[in-house]
Amino acid sequence: MHQTVVGTRELSRDEVKRYLSFRKNSTSSNLDKQRTKREFTRLFLEYAFFGDETNHLKSPVLVSWDITSKCNSKCKICYYYPTFAPHKEDLSLSKLKNIAYKLHKGEVLEVTLGGGEPLIRKDFENILKTIKEYDFFTYLLTNGTLLQNTRANKIYSLLDDDDMIQISLDGATRETYLKQRGIDAFDTVVKNISNAVKNGVATHCNCVATNLNSSEIPKIYELCSELGVGSLTITMPAFLGRFKAYLFVHQRILVRRILETLELKEENGYKTQLIDGLGLPYSLDEIRKAVNSKEKNLNARPHCLAGTGKAAISSIGDVYPCTFAMYAEFNAGNLLKDGLEKIWNNPKAFAKFRGGRDLSKAKCSKCKFVNMCRGGCPGVTKNCFGDVNHADPRCMATVM
Ligand SMILES: C[S@@+](CC[C@H](N)C(=O)[O-])C[C@H]1O[C@@H](n2cnc3c(N)ncnc32)[C@H](O)[C@@H]1O
Ligand code: SF4
Ligand code: SF4
Repeated sequence: MHQTVVGTRELSRDEVKRYLSFRKNSTSSNLDKQRTKREFTRLFLEYAFFGDETNHLKSPVLVSWDITSKCNSKCKICYYYPTFAPHKEDLSLSKLKNIAYKLHKGEVLEVTLGGGEPLIRKDFENILKTIKEYDFFTYLLTNGTLLQNTRANKIYSLLDDDDMIQISLDGATRETYLKQRGIDAFDTVVKNISNAVKNGVATHCNCVATNLNSSEIPKIYELCSELGVGSLTITMPAFLGRFKAYLFVHQRILVRRILETLELKEENGYKTQLIDGLGLPYSLDEIRKAVNSKEKNLNARPHCLAGTGKAAISSIGDVYPCTFAMYAEFNAGNLLKDGLEKIWNNPKAFAKFRGGRDLSKAKCSKCKFVNMCRGGCPGVTKNCFGDVNHADPRCMATVM
């Protein structure tokens, strides 16, 4: 596996050992069956790059694909609008098929379908059918508003055990949901989440944490548990698009809320996994251990894979390192014109994601987390400072 997946480097015995111990110690060790294969791939890839950002895979094995730039919601937090969605027309099904074929030839393993709202496309079922014909692990991101009855059942019948659906859930009440998402769809979404679970689909919820909903995090978790959802991620918002600073909640507060929620989980024996998407260098389990035992030897987490193991495709087929970095400067080519291999080997577009980020003048150069964090999200820093050679404004060092 190592030689076929990793482009330029074979892992040594010691590295594999470190990887296995990372897996053992990570929150992922108690993953349910459906997540195991996916997480294994992801963790393996993350591990493959641990401490070596100049390396990259022969092909991006994980791809996020915006199959539409349209949406039926008006979320205040949305990173996508207006910056990354300038294109009015989406690609036809036959063009999407052409791209899917190229991803298959390029040895992509997992495709995340997003947008915009993927289900706004009337031909979504046919798109999904095409994706499944190529046997990609499929991860569907949806706001859950359009997952009703017959249509939802058709979609679920196309998914298999390794696939997952992520439904956004930004509140535990109708009012909070409406405030953050701009549409009065809480009841519909909760009903549709419940239906997905009942249909045996591996269902994950995602909550973008803001000052509109952070006090409800434990309740959002409890709701997910009642609905039988497999996992819930609490996500730190990216400072992009519509997201405005006034919505930001300091990581310290979020860490506290999440630790409280973990206690709730344990006290009540809830099964839903709680995943922190805060971008911290350490897992919350590690942080909790440190808080409780004053243990300072934490197992650091590897950095993100944008441009080294994963890529993003825009609604017109352009390829970028990440959905958070769809800037002209990082446009590596278009899949309707070229094959994935040629695009992936565009050195200029990916340079800043493959060791070319210069953090020597940033506070990161003196930071003990720099090997894991690498200055945080390049997409966010470019948006905030004009280039990527700065520390992420959500710098996690302040929490540790
Ligand atoms: C862009 S949406 C596309 C899928 C679908 N429309 C939805 O809302 O679930 C993908 C995910 O990104 C999340 N998201 C939106 N804006 C974000 C931001 N500024 N930072 C982090 N995540 C964000 C959404 O809540 C959603 O879970
Ligand atoms: S987060 Fe999803 S549902 Fe909300 S505006 Fe963005 S794309 Fe639409
Ligand atoms: S200073 Fe902050 S942004 Fe920079 S590497 Fe350290 S934790 Fe990351």
